[in-house]
Amino acid sequence: MHDTFQALVLNREENRLHAEVTEVKRDALPREEDGNVLVEVHYSALNYKDALGLTGAGAIINEFPFIPGCEFVGKVVESDHLDFKEGDEVIATGFGIGERHFGGFSHYAQVPGNWLVKLPKGLSMRDAITIGTPGLTAIFAVEALEHEQIHPGQEVLVTGASGGVGSFAIAILHKLGYHVLASTGKTDPAYLRALGVENIMARSELEGPARPLDKQRFDAAIDSVGGETLGNILSRTRYEGTVVACGLAGGHELHTTVYPFILRGVRLIGIDSVMQPVSRRMTAWERLHELVDETVLKHMVHEIPLHDVPRQAEAMLRGELSGRTVVRLHS
Ligand SMILES: NC(=O)c1ccc[n+]([C@@H]2O[C@H](COP(=O)([O-])OP(=O)(O)OC[C@H]3O[C@@H](n4cnc5c(N)ncnc54)[C@H](OP(=O)(O)O)[C@@H]3O)[C@@H](O)[C@H]2O)c1
Repeated sequence: MHDTFQALVLNREENRLHAEVTEVKRDALPREEDGNVLVEVHYSALNYKDALGLTGAGAIINEFPFIPGCEFVGKVVESDHLDFKEGDEVIATGFGIGERHFGGFSHYAQVPGNWLVKLPKGLSMRDAITIGTPGLTAIFAVEALEHEQIHPGQEVLVTGASGGVGSFAIAILHKLGYHVLASTGKTDPAYLRALGVENIMARSELEGPARPLDKQRFDAAIDSVGGETLGNILSRTRYEGTVVACGLAGGHELHTTVYPFILRGVRLIGIDSVMQPVSRRMTAWERLHELVDETVLKHMVHEIPLHDVPRQAEAMLRGELSGRTVVRLHS
Protein backbone atom coordinates (compact mmCIF):
# COMPACT_ATOMS: atom_id res chain seq x y z
CA MET A 1 0.00 0.00 0.00
CA HIS A 2 1.02 3.65 -0.42
CA ASP A 3 1.94 5.96 2.47
CA THR A 4 -1.43 7.71 2.20
CA PHE A 5 -4.96 6.64 1.33
CA GLN A 6 -8.43 8.19 1.19
CA ALA A 7 -10.92 8.17 4.05
CA LEU A 8 -13.97 10.07 5.23
CA VAL A 9 -12.63 12.17 8.09
CA LEU A 10 -14.92 13.75 10.68
CA ASN A 11 -13.71 16.97 12.32
CA ARG A 12 -15.26 19.26 14.90
CA GLU A 13 -14.69 23.00 14.51
CA GLU A 14 -16.35 25.50 16.84
CA ASN A 15 -18.77 22.76 17.97
CA ARG A 16 -19.84 21.98 14.39
CA LEU A 17 -19.13 18.61 12.80
CA HIS A 18 -17.77 18.45 9.28
CA ALA A 19 -17.03 15.28 7.29
CA GLU A 20 -15.07 15.13 4.03
CA VAL A 21 -13.09 12.63 1.99
CA THR A 22 -9.41 13.42 2.43
CA GLU A 23 -5.90 11.86 2.30
CA VAL A 24 -4.83 10.12 5.50
CA LYS A 25 -1.32 8.94 6.41
CA ARG A 26 -0.92 5.23 6.97
CA ASP A 27 0.73 5.98 10.36
CA ALA A 28 -2.56 7.50 11.53
CA LEU A 29 -4.22 4.07 11.67
CA PRO A 30 -4.52 2.88 15.29
CA ARG A 31 -2.45 -0.07 16.51
CA GLU A 32 -3.51 -2.14 19.49
CA GLU A 33 -0.86 -3.85 21.64
CA ASP A 34 -0.64 -7.00 19.51
CA GLY A 35 -2.37 -9.05 16.87
CA ASN A 36 -3.00 -6.11 14.51
CA VAL A 37 -4.43 -6.84 11.08
CA LEU A 38 -4.35 -4.32 8.22
CA VAL A 39 -7.31 -4.68 5.86
CA GLU A 40 -7.91 -3.20 2.41
CA VAL A 41 -11.56 -2.21 2.78
CA HIS A 42 -13.79 -3.18 -0.15
CA TYR A 43 -17.13 -2.15 1.33
CA SER A 44 -18.50 -0.47 4.42
CA ALA A 45 -22.16 0.27 5.20
CA LEU A 46 -24.17 3.07 6.76
CA ASN A 47 -25.75 2.19 10.10
CA TYR A 48 -28.11 4.20 12.28
CA LYS A 49 -25.29 4.64 14.79
CA ASP A 50 -23.03 6.07 12.03
CA ALA A 51 -25.78 8.53 11.12
CA LEU A 52 -26.05 9.65 14.77
CA GLY A 53 -22.26 10.04 14.99
CA LEU A 54 -21.75 11.84 11.66
CA THR A 55 -24.52 14.37 12.24
CA GLY A 56 -23.90 14.83 15.98
CA ALA A 57 -27.51 13.79 16.70
CA GLY A 58 -26.04 11.28 19.16
CA ALA A 59 -22.83 11.49 21.22
CA ILE A 60 -21.27 8.49 19.46
CA ILE A 61 -17.89 9.98 18.47
CA ASN A 62 -15.98 12.08 20.97
CA GLU A 63 -12.44 12.37 19.58
CA PHE A 64 -11.46 14.27 16.46
CA PRO A 65 -10.25 14.00 13.76
CA PHE A 66 -11.93 10.59 13.41
CA ILE A 67 -12.71 8.01 10.71
CA PRO A 68 -16.28 6.72 11.30
CA GLY A 69 -17.89 3.55 9.91
CA CYS A 70 -19.06 0.83 12.34
CA GLU A 71 -18.32 -2.08 10.00
CA PHE A 72 -16.28 -3.09 6.98
CA VAL A 73 -15.41 -6.04 4.80
CA GLY A 74 -12.17 -6.47 2.88
CA LYS A 75 -8.95 -8.38 2.26
CA VAL A 76 -6.09 -8.78 4.71
CA VAL A 77 -2.96 -6.92 3.57
CA GLU A 78 -0.70 -7.50 6.60
CA SER A 79 -1.27 -9.55 9.73
CA ASP A 80 0.43 -9.91 13.12
CA HIS A 81 -2.31 -12.36 14.15
CA LEU A 82 -1.80 -16.12 13.73
CA ASP A 83 -5.38 -16.74 12.50
CA PHE A 84 -5.13 -14.36 9.51
CA LYS A 85 -2.90 -14.11 6.47
CA GLU A 86 -2.62 -11.87 3.42
CA GLY A 87 -5.58 -12.29 1.07
CA ASP A 88 -8.09 -13.59 3.67
CA GLU A 89 -11.55 -12.07 3.24
CA VAL A 90 -12.76 -10.74 6.59
CA ILE A 91 -15.62 -8.79 8.13
CA ALA A 92 -15.46 -6.50 11.16
CA THR A 93 -18.51 -5.27 13.09
CA GLY A 94 -18.95 -3.90 16.62
CA PHE A 95 -16.23 -3.72 19.32
CA GLY A 96 -16.32 0.10 19.16
CA ILE A 97 -15.18 0.23 15.51
CA GLY A 98 -16.28 3.60 14.12
CA GLU A 99 -17.03 4.81 17.67
CA ARG A 100 -13.75 4.66 19.61
CA HIS A 101 -11.51 2.96 17.02
CA PHE A 102 -11.07 4.29 13.43
CA GLY A 103 -13.68 2.63 11.24
CA GLY A 104 -14.63 1.47 7.78
CA PHE A 105 -15.33 4.69 5.81
CA SER A 106 -11.74 4.36 4.64
CA HIS A 107 -9.73 2.55 1.99
CA TYR A 108 -7.72 0.85 4.76
CA ALA A 109 -8.53 -0.12 8.34
CA GLN A 110 -6.48 -1.72 11.10
CA VAL A 111 -8.01 -3.70 13.96
CA PRO A 112 -6.97 -6.50 16.33
CA GLY A 113 -7.42 -9.91 14.68
CA ASN A 114 -9.69 -11.08 17.48
CA TRP A 115 -12.34 -8.61 16.29
CA LEU A 116 -12.42 -10.18 12.81
CA VAL A 117 -14.48 -13.01 11.32
CA LYS A 118 -13.47 -14.81 8.12
CA LEU A 119 -16.27 -14.87 5.57
CA PRO A 120 -18.16 -18.17 5.28
CA LYS A 121 -17.22 -20.04 2.08
CA GLY A 122 -19.30 -18.91 -0.88
CA LEU A 123 -20.42 -15.60 0.67
CA SER A 124 -19.26 -12.60 -1.41
CA MET A 125 -17.86 -9.50 0.29
CA ARG A 126 -20.75 -7.40 -1.02
CA ASP A 127 -23.38 -9.82 0.29
CA ALA A 128 -21.55 -10.02 3.62
CA ILE A 129 -21.59 -6.26 4.17
CA THR A 130 -25.21 -6.10 3.04
CA ILE A 131 -25.99 -8.48 5.91
CA GLY A 132 -23.53 -6.81 8.33
CA THR A 133 -24.52 -5.53 11.77
CA PRO A 134 -28.30 -5.45 11.15
CA GLY A 135 -28.26 -9.04 9.90
CA LEU A 136 -26.31 -10.16 12.97
CA THR A 137 -28.64 -8.21 15.27
CA ALA A 138 -31.69 -9.73 13.58
CA ILE A 139 -30.43 -13.31 13.87
CA PHE A 140 -29.60 -12.77 17.56
CA ALA A 141 -33.13 -11.39 18.03
CA VAL A 142 -34.70 -14.39 16.27
CA GLU A 143 -32.56 -16.75 18.36
CA ALA A 144 -33.89 -15.01 21.49
CA LEU A 145 -37.46 -15.78 20.32
CA GLU A 146 -36.51 -19.40 19.62
CA HIS A 147 -34.97 -19.65 23.09
CA GLU A 148 -38.25 -18.39 24.59
CA GLN A 149 -40.25 -21.10 22.73
CA ILE A 150 -41.82 -18.81 20.13
CA HIS A 151 -42.36 -21.22 17.23
CA PRO A 152 -42.80 -21.02 13.44
CA GLY A 153 -46.48 -20.53 12.68
CA GLN A 154 -46.83 -17.87 15.41
CA GLU A 155 -47.24 -14.19 14.58
CA VAL A 156 -44.30 -11.83 15.16
CA LEU A 157 -44.48 -8.03 14.93
CA VAL A 158 -41.41 -6.29 13.46
CA THR A 159 -41.10 -2.52 13.98
CA GLY A 160 -38.84 -0.14 12.05
CA ALA A 161 -39.71 -2.70 9.41
CA SER A 162 -38.09 -1.13 6.36
CA GLY A 163 -34.80 -0.39 8.16
CA GLY A 164 -31.72 -2.64 8.24
CA VAL A 165 -32.55 -4.62 11.39
CA GLY A 166 -36.26 -4.73 10.50
CA SER A 167 -35.67 -5.97 6.94
CA PHE A 168 -33.43 -8.83 8.10
CA ALA A 169 -35.74 -9.77 10.95
CA ILE A 170 -38.61 -10.04 8.44
CA ALA A 171 -36.64 -12.03 5.88
CA ILE A 172 -35.33 -14.52 8.48
CA LEU A 173 -38.67 -14.96 10.26
CA HIS A 174 -40.45 -15.50 6.94
CA LYS A 175 -37.85 -18.06 5.83
CA LEU A 176 -38.29 -19.94 9.13
CA GLY A 177 -42.08 -20.07 8.75
CA TYR A 178 -43.28 -17.37 11.15
CA HIS A 179 -46.16 -15.04 10.20
CA VAL A 180 -44.81 -11.50 10.03
CA LEU A 181 -46.77 -8.37 10.92
CA ALA A 182 -44.79 -5.20 10.10
CA SER A 183 -45.10 -1.75 11.64
CA THR A 184 -43.84 0.96 9.27
CA GLY A 185 -43.95 4.67 8.58
CA LYS A 186 -43.63 4.07 4.83
CA THR A 187 -46.73 4.24 2.65
CA ASP A 188 -45.69 1.87 -0.16
CA PRO A 189 -46.00 -1.75 1.06
CA ALA A 190 -44.23 -3.31 -1.99
CA TYR A 191 -40.75 -3.39 -0.38
CA LEU A 192 -42.01 -5.13 2.77
CA ARG A 193 -44.33 -7.55 0.95
CA ALA A 194 -41.39 -8.77 -1.15
CA LEU A 195 -39.50 -9.63 2.07
CA GLY A 196 -42.37 -11.83 3.25
CA VAL A 197 -44.58 -9.53 5.34
CA GLU A 198 -48.19 -10.77 5.54
CA ASN A 199 -49.84 -7.90 7.40
CA ILE A 200 -48.93 -4.24 7.82
CA MET A 201 -49.72 -1.83 10.64
CA ALA A 202 -49.17 1.95 10.36
CA ARG A 203 -46.36 3.21 12.60
CA SER A 204 -48.81 5.68 14.18
CA GLU A 205 -50.85 2.79 15.68
CA LEU A 206 -48.05 2.17 18.17
CA GLU A 207 -47.38 5.83 18.95
CA GLY A 208 -48.71 7.85 21.89
CA PRO A 209 -48.72 6.92 25.59
CA ALA A 210 -49.31 3.18 26.13
CA ARG A 211 -52.26 1.88 28.13
CA PRO A 212 -51.22 -0.56 30.92
CA LEU A 213 -52.90 -3.40 28.98
CA ASP A 214 -54.40 -3.25 25.51
CA LYS A 215 -56.06 -5.71 23.12
CA GLN A 216 -53.69 -8.68 22.54
CA ARG A 217 -52.47 -8.50 18.92
CA PHE A 218 -49.31 -10.62 18.33
CA ASP A 219 -47.36 -13.48 19.92
CA ALA A 220 -43.96 -11.82 19.89
CA ALA A 221 -42.11 -8.75 18.61
CA ILE A 222 -38.69 -7.61 17.40
CA ASP A 223 -38.48 -3.88 18.06
CA SER A 224 -35.84 -1.47 16.76
CA VAL A 225 -37.86 1.67 17.54
CA GLY A 226 -38.03 1.82 21.38
CA GLY A 227 -39.72 4.77 23.16
CA GLU A 228 -43.53 4.91 23.14
CA THR A 229 -43.61 2.15 20.51
CA LEU A 230 -42.00 -0.36 22.88
CA GLY A 231 -44.47 0.55 25.65
CA ASN A 232 -47.38 -0.03 23.24
CA ILE A 233 -45.90 -3.34 22.08
CA LEU A 234 -45.67 -4.65 25.64
CA SER A 235 -49.31 -3.87 26.37
CA ARG A 236 -50.49 -5.62 23.13
CA THR A 237 -48.38 -8.78 23.30
CA ARG A 238 -50.35 -12.02 23.77
CA TYR A 239 -50.22 -14.15 26.91
CA GLU A 240 -46.65 -15.50 27.54
CA GLY A 241 -45.29 -13.74 24.48
CA THR A 242 -41.77 -12.37 24.08
CA VAL A 243 -40.63 -8.89 23.08
CA VAL A 244 -37.06 -8.36 21.90
CA ALA A 245 -35.73 -4.80 22.22
CA CYS A 246 -32.82 -3.96 19.95
CA GLY A 247 -33.01 -0.29 19.01
CA LEU A 248 -34.06 3.29 19.64
CA ALA A 249 -34.94 4.80 16.25
CA GLY A 250 -38.04 6.32 17.89
CA GLY A 251 -36.61 7.11 21.32
CA HIS A 252 -34.55 5.74 24.21
CA GLU A 253 -37.12 6.04 26.98
CA LEU A 254 -39.43 3.26 28.10
CA HIS A 255 -42.68 3.98 29.95
CA THR A 256 -44.63 0.88 30.91
CA THR A 257 -46.24 -0.81 33.90
CA VAL A 258 -45.69 -4.21 35.46
CA TYR A 259 -49.11 -5.44 34.17
CA PRO A 260 -47.92 -7.07 30.90
CA PHE A 261 -45.32 -8.97 32.95
CA ILE A 262 -47.41 -10.07 35.94
CA LEU A 263 -50.84 -10.55 34.30
CA ARG A 264 -49.79 -11.90 30.89
CA GLY A 265 -46.36 -13.38 31.61
CA VAL A 266 -44.83 -11.26 28.81
CA ARG A 267 -41.04 -11.40 28.60
CA LEU A 268 -38.80 -8.50 27.57
CA ILE A 269 -35.35 -9.43 26.25
CA GLY A 270 -32.51 -7.08 25.28
CA ILE A 271 -30.11 -7.68 22.41
CA ASP A 272 -26.59 -6.33 21.94
CA SER A 273 -24.62 -7.32 18.87
CA VAL A 274 -21.60 -5.08 19.50
CA MET A 275 -19.74 -7.08 22.15
CA GLN A 276 -20.80 -10.61 21.18
CA PRO A 277 -17.81 -12.97 21.25
CA VAL A 278 -16.32 -14.00 17.90
CA SER A 279 -17.27 -17.68 18.48
CA ARG A 280 -20.99 -16.74 18.57
CA ARG A 281 -20.58 -14.44 15.57
CA MET A 282 -19.04 -17.25 13.51
CA THR A 283 -22.03 -19.52 14.14
CA ALA A 284 -24.40 -16.64 13.42
CA TRP A 285 -22.64 -15.88 10.11
CA GLU A 286 -23.01 -19.51 9.00
CA ARG A 287 -26.71 -19.39 9.83
CA LEU A 288 -27.20 -16.06 8.07
CA HIS A 289 -25.47 -17.41 4.95
CA GLU A 290 -27.94 -20.32 4.98
CA LEU A 291 -31.10 -18.31 5.77
CA VAL A 292 -30.76 -15.11 3.75
CA ASP A 293 -31.31 -15.62 0.02
CA GLU A 294 -29.34 -13.66 -2.58
CA THR A 295 -32.60 -12.34 -4.06
CA VAL A 296 -33.47 -10.84 -0.67
CA LEU A 297 -30.06 -9.15 -0.47
CA LYS A 298 -30.41 -7.75 -3.99
CA HIS A 299 -33.84 -6.42 -3.08
CA MET A 300 -32.65 -4.53 0.00
CA VAL A 301 -29.24 -3.19 -1.07
CA HIS A 302 -28.49 0.33 -2.27
CA GLU A 303 -24.87 1.22 -3.08
CA ILE A 304 -23.26 4.66 -2.64
CA PRO A 305 -19.76 6.14 -3.06
CA LEU A 306 -17.79 7.31 -0.01
CA HIS A 307 -18.36 11.03 -0.57
CA ASP A 308 -22.16 10.52 -0.44
CA VAL A 309 -22.12 9.12 3.13
CA PRO A 310 -22.82 12.43 5.00
CA ARG A 311 -25.86 13.22 2.79
CA GLN A 312 -27.28 9.70 3.19
CA ALA A 313 -26.73 9.88 6.96
CA GLU A 314 -29.08 12.87 7.14
CA ALA A 315 -31.66 10.99 5.03
CA MET A 316 -31.35 7.94 7.31
CA LEU A 317 -32.20 10.02 10.39
CA ARG A 318 -35.21 11.47 8.57
CA GLY A 319 -36.38 7.84 8.13
CA GLU A 320 -36.21 8.13 4.32
CA LEU A 321 -34.01 5.10 3.58
CA SER A 322 -35.07 1.48 3.20
CA GLY A 323 -32.98 -1.66 3.54
CA ARG A 324 -29.20 -1.41 3.47
CA THR A 325 -26.97 1.41 2.29
CA VAL A 326 -23.63 -0.12 1.30
CA VAL A 327 -20.58 2.10 0.78
CA ARG A 328 -18.29 1.14 -2.11
CA LEU A 329 -14.53 1.59 -1.58
CA HIS A 330 -12.39 -0.83 -3.63
CA SER A 331 -14.35 -3.30 -5.74
N1 LIG B 1 -28.76 -3.73 19.73
C1 LIG B 1 -27.87 -3.76 18.76
O1 LIG B 1 -26.84 -4.43 18.82
C2 LIG B 1 -28.14 -2.95 17.53
C3 LIG B 1 -27.53 -3.27 16.31
C4 LIG B 1 -27.89 -2.55 15.16
C5 LIG B 1 -28.79 -1.51 15.27
N2 LIG B 1 -29.32 -1.22 16.48
C6 LIG B 1 -30.30 -0.14 16.62
O2 LIG B 1 -31.49 -0.54 15.96
C7 LIG B 1 -32.14 0.62 15.43
C8 LIG B 1 -32.38 0.40 13.94
O3 LIG B 1 -31.13 0.29 13.28
P1 LIG B 1 -31.10 0.15 11.69
O4 LIG B 1 -29.69 -0.02 11.30
O5 LIG B 1 -32.11 -0.84 11.29
O6 LIG B 1 -31.59 1.63 11.28
P2 LIG B 1 -32.39 2.08 9.97
O7 LIG B 1 -31.95 1.27 8.82
O8 LIG B 1 -32.30 3.56 9.93
O9 LIG B 1 -33.89 1.65 10.31
C9 LIG B 1 -34.67 2.28 11.30
C10 LIG B 1 -36.12 2.22 10.85
O10 LIG B 1 -36.93 2.67 11.93
C11 LIG B 1 -38.03 3.41 11.43
N3 LIG B 1 -37.94 4.77 11.98
C12 LIG B 1 -37.09 5.75 11.65
N4 LIG B 1 -37.29 6.85 12.39
C13 LIG B 1 -38.31 6.55 13.22
C14 LIG B 1 -39.01 7.27 14.23
N5 LIG B 1 -38.70 8.53 14.54
N6 LIG B 1 -40.00 6.63 14.89
C15 LIG B 1 -40.32 5.37 14.60
N7 LIG B 1 -39.71 4.64 13.64
C16 LIG B 1 -38.71 5.23 12.97
C17 LIG B 1 -37.92 3.40 9.90
O11 LIG B 1 -38.65 2.27 9.43
P3 LIG B 1 -40.15 2.41 8.87
O12 LIG B 1 -40.14 3.59 7.95
O13 LIG B 1 -40.42 1.12 8.17
O14 LIG B 1 -41.04 2.64 10.05
C18 LIG B 1 -36.45 3.15 9.69
O15 LIG B 1 -36.18 2.57 8.43
C19 LIG B 1 -31.25 1.80 15.74
O16 LIG B 1 -31.69 2.42 16.92
C20 LIG B 1 -29.90 1.17 15.95
O17 LIG B 1 -29.07 1.96 16.78
C21 LIG B 1 -29.02 -1.91 17.59
